[in-house]
Amino acid sequence: MPALKVLQLSDLHVLPHAGDTLLGVDTEYYFARILNEAFQSHGTFDLVLLTGDLGQDPTPDSYRRIAGHLRHYATPCLCLPGNHDDWPLMQRELNADALSCRKQWLFPDWQIIGLNSQKPGSPGGYLAGEELDFLDRTLAACTLPALLAMHHHCVASGSPWMDTMMIENGEELLRIAENYPQVKAITCGHVHQEIAQQQRTIQIVSAPASCFQFKPGATEFALDIKPPGYRVFELYADGSLKTACHRIAAEQPELRLDLNSY
Ligand SMILES: [Fe+2]
Repeated sequence: MPALKVLQLSDLHVLPHAGDTLLGVDTEYYFARILNEAFQSHGTFDLVLLTGDLGQDPTPDSYRRIAGHLRHYATPCLCLPGNHDDWPLMQRELNADALSCRKQWLFPDWQIIGLNSQKPGSPGGYLAGEELDFLDRTLAACTLPALLAMHHHCVASGSPWMDTMMIENGEELLRIAENYPQVKAITCGHVHQEIAQQQRTIQIVSAPASCFQFKPGATEFALDIKPPGYRVFELYADGSLKTACHRIAAEQPELRLDLNSY
């Protein structure tokens, strides 16, 4: 039985107008390029999982341009909100045909559960009671192996400035997840770098951003020179999984250090 293949993209930061740049990077160009290179390198995917910060100061047109790039691949896409997203607008623009903002995606042998970790008015993360209740209820009702996904990170990344913005009640998430042996992995975005940790039986990972990267271990805002990247999951029917980050063979985006514009 072939594995279920999931492509995770995160932190697109697509801007209101095509051709605009953020920190010197044309974010939409790299989003389109990542998609293209991921499909070229890995063939088809069963799902594209987008873990937030799809838009930077998003407008309807930002999300429509994102939808246009995604629809080209005719693959189901699950869209989760990040701190820069407008969640009601996302749900209007990215919730038709192959694009979905639903919270549970069922395959015959696996389930993907997406949570909203937005903390209104803050760049940091938080899981409201209704998100945690949804997770608990969903896992109680369905024992399929589960991949949990959300924008913010639930464990420290090792970057003190970034860890001020992690999910502030991440321990509650882990407490619920550890109650259900079918939870195999938790993935996120937000950190613009790779996380790969193990918490008891649960793999905790992140995808790099599809635009600019943050420097691992930095104590304050600092960009990294690594190219944009993505994560691929191979989910097997016996509940095992393989996952790895990949980076595009890109010429280095010319980064412009300007915290105020991020
Ligand atoms: Fe981001």
